[in-house]
Amino acid sequence: MEIEIRRLTPGLAEEYARFFDTTSHNDEGSGEKCYCVTWRRDDSYVGDDHWYPTPEERRVRAIGFIKDGSLQGYLAYLGDRIIGWCSATAECSLGVNYLRSFWPIEEYREDINVMSVFCFMIAPRMQRKGVASQLLERVIKDASDDGFDYVEAYIDKVVSDAGRDFRGPLKLYEKCGFSIYAEKDGKAVVRKALKNVMPLR
Ligand SMILES: CC(C)(COP(=O)(O)OP(=O)(O)OC[C@H]1O[C@@H](n2cnc3c(N)ncnc32)[C@H](O)[C@@H]1OP(=O)(O)O)[C@@H](O)C(=O)NCCC(=O)NCCS
Repeated sequence: MEIEIRRLTPGLAEEYARFFDTTSHNDEGSGEKCYCVTWRRDDSYVGDDHWYPTPEERRVRAIGFIKDGSLQGYLAYLGDRIIGWCSATAECSLGVNYLRSFWPIEEYREDINVMSVFCFMIAPRMQRKGVASQLLERVIKDASDDGFDYVEAYIDKVVSDAGRDFRGPLKLYEKCGFSIYAEKDGKAVVRKALKNVMPLR
């Protein structure tokens, strides 16, 4: 299957929103579409507004955040159709701080550049075909080209339904060369080093 991975750009904002409009994900039964608005650049947060109460507002906000470059990641295309999304950014320290309450994430260090992977959403009919793997490989390649030290993700080691594991299954990361860096109460930080860097600990 020939898929193309594109970095999210302002011009793709409407297509991104339509993908969320039309793709079943965390909203089954509730109508609560997320539009993945939480993981975004720090300067786009005003107070504690990491979440918006209605899907309509989240849609509008997501488009705005993509247009101003706050919401970052990659889209997978099959022909001209979007079939997958991966949220990846190094500019969401407020989001990482929030996750730090649950995951054993290293404190921020100015001399270490970390690209964080926060979320995946692969269209149901396209799952188990390597789409998330290809998205993750692209994150790794671009982070490496851009001089990052690590790509990192924050995962649950045990999930009741792997097909709904939006953080991505451990096996996905292992296939792409990640290993568990730190672990606490079933929550694992997985990491892939992009350079010959000394371990942080
Ligand atoms: C979980 C998810 C990200 C996996 O994406 P994917 O494209 O199917 O993953 P890949 O095909 O690249 O699989 C990579 C590896 O991960 C593991 N894996 C992926 N899906 C799995 C599943 N349903 N069960 C068990 N293992 C799974 C496998 O080890 C797989 O390798 P293999 O197929 O060679 O065995 C995808 O199913 C998804 O997006 N689910 C919906 C998540 C969601 O609700 N997101 C929105 C949140 S608001």
